[in-house]
Amino acid sequence: MRHLLTLFDLQPMELEAIFTITHDLKEKFAAGLREPILPGRVLAMLFERPSLRTRVSFEAAILQLGGGSLFLGEDVGFGSRESVEDCGRVLGQFVDVIVSRTREHQSLVDFASNCACSVINGLSEQAHPCQALADLYTIREQLGGLKTLRLAWVGDGNNVARSLAIGCAKMGYSFVAASPPGYQLDGSYLDEVRRAVPGAEIEQIEDPREAVEGADVVYTDVWASMGQEAEKQSRAESFAAYQVDRKLMSMAPERAIFMHCMPAHRGMEVTADVLDGPQSVVLEQAANRMHVQKGLLAWLLGKQS
Ligand code: CP
Ligand code: NVA
Repeated sequence: MRHLLTLFDLQPMELEAIFTITHDLKEKFAAGLREPILPGRVLAMLFERPSLRTRVSFEAAILQLGGGSLFLGEDVGFGSRESVEDCGRVLGQFVDVIVSRTREHQSLVDFASNCACSVINGLSEQAHPCQALADLYTIREQLGGLKTLRLAWVGDGNNVARSLAIGCAKMGYSFVAASPPGYQLDGSYLDEVRRAVPGAEIEQIEDPREAVEGADVVYTDVWASMGQEAEKQSRAESFAAYQVDRKLMSMAPERAIFMHCMPAHRGMEVTADVLDGPQSVVLEQAANRMHVQKGLLAWLLGKQS
């Protein structure tokens, strides 16, 4: 059974296969075609945290492919009314694929290992593989002509940063993260990426100016992720020098694009003139969540158009 819990689960050739299906489906969508290639397939969405993009883009994706979706909120009692393992054993018999946004990554692992259908991580505190997949696809769409590519992450070494680090390594892009002390990507995680992709160009530094120098992509995310609301104030202080503003963007090459997984906070991790400015591709990124997830669902369920 194939699950997508992190991007370690996909080989470079498999990323390419998903992107090829995505490209085809996206072109057809633009031409007004929505081929029902997954008729009768059921997607369950098991969410312990709020979501706009992940939830709606997956639901729209499966509907456009001819299947249906069920949104399961906290009321199903995942891990409270019954164990996550029993939820997996039962739910996996009803549906074809499950997208799950758990509070803890370990619950997702325990759930998936007891599930007879594919489980996709719709964000955990450790990884956001669907976001990174859409981001890598967007980067190629925007900058596909470049021979080498450098992504500069500015901010918290969080779930999105971790997924982009392994995703960039698998795509052959170089990845540099600039974060304040205490908020950096774990050295052990970076070693895991290097072991999975020998020769991966991956770096953790402190200075955001050094990171964006020569970068083709400047990427940031919230300073306090879901579950870290109590640390909002202390994090705002620690990350103050990491705001992506026009001055920081001007230190990157003119061709550089700005990315953010959203939700975004103008005046915090990014200024409004950058988020809404000409280098920003945040809405293209968000749109690609749906297209790439269509490619992923078609690939996972073995139905290519
Ligand atoms: N980027 C992202 O995953 O957004 P949601 O939390 O709204 O799903
Ligand atoms: N790092 C953020 C991403 C939201 C899509 C969070 O985990 O809340």
